[in-house]
Amino acid sequence: MKEINLTSTFTVFENLTELPKDVVDLFKKAVLARNNAYAPYSKFQVGVAILLEDGTIVSASNQENAAYPSGMCAERVAIWNAGASHPNKKIKKLVITAKSNSTTLDRPVGPCGACRQSISEYEIKQEENIQIFFMGEVGKILKSNSLSDLLPLSFDKTFL
Ligand code: THU
Repeated sequence: MKEINLTSTFTVFENLTELPKDVVDLFKKAVLARNNAYAPYSKFQVGVAILLEDGTIVSASNQENAAYPSGMCAERVAIWNAGASHPNKKIKKLVITAKSNSTTLDRPVGPCGACRQSISEYEIKQEENIQIFFMGEVGKILKSNSLSDLLPLSFDKTFL
């Protein structure tokens, strides 16, 4: 028997002013998208913007449903839109911002497990890392250089 030790490295930015301009622009798009969230039940709004290799930006927000499980997270609406509309363009960066009705979110809000799995599929497909940046409404931003840092020991096509 032995133990294995997995490590993930993240970069912490204190606020948006520390980020490169292209990422700030992505966050501006993500905030606009967040304002279009359809979240009448949770009142928790999430916005995502994705930068493709040719400069195209795809953005999306969470979309809820009275039949709760029929709703969908912003990250999956965005990544599937990118996959469906631009199947041959690599995804370079994905940024996430979340806003709560009940409190000012001042810490980074990471993607849920199912969204990590969905983003992972595209990182593997394109054989190139996707940078993920995530924040709340204000405050620190966390950067992951690869989705794999957010989902160690993931399930992938090699098991099929
Ligand atoms: N949500 C997202 O859009 N992304 C996540 O990663 C976590 C949760 C949405 C789903 C639902 O509309 C609301 O936030 C509350 O869970």
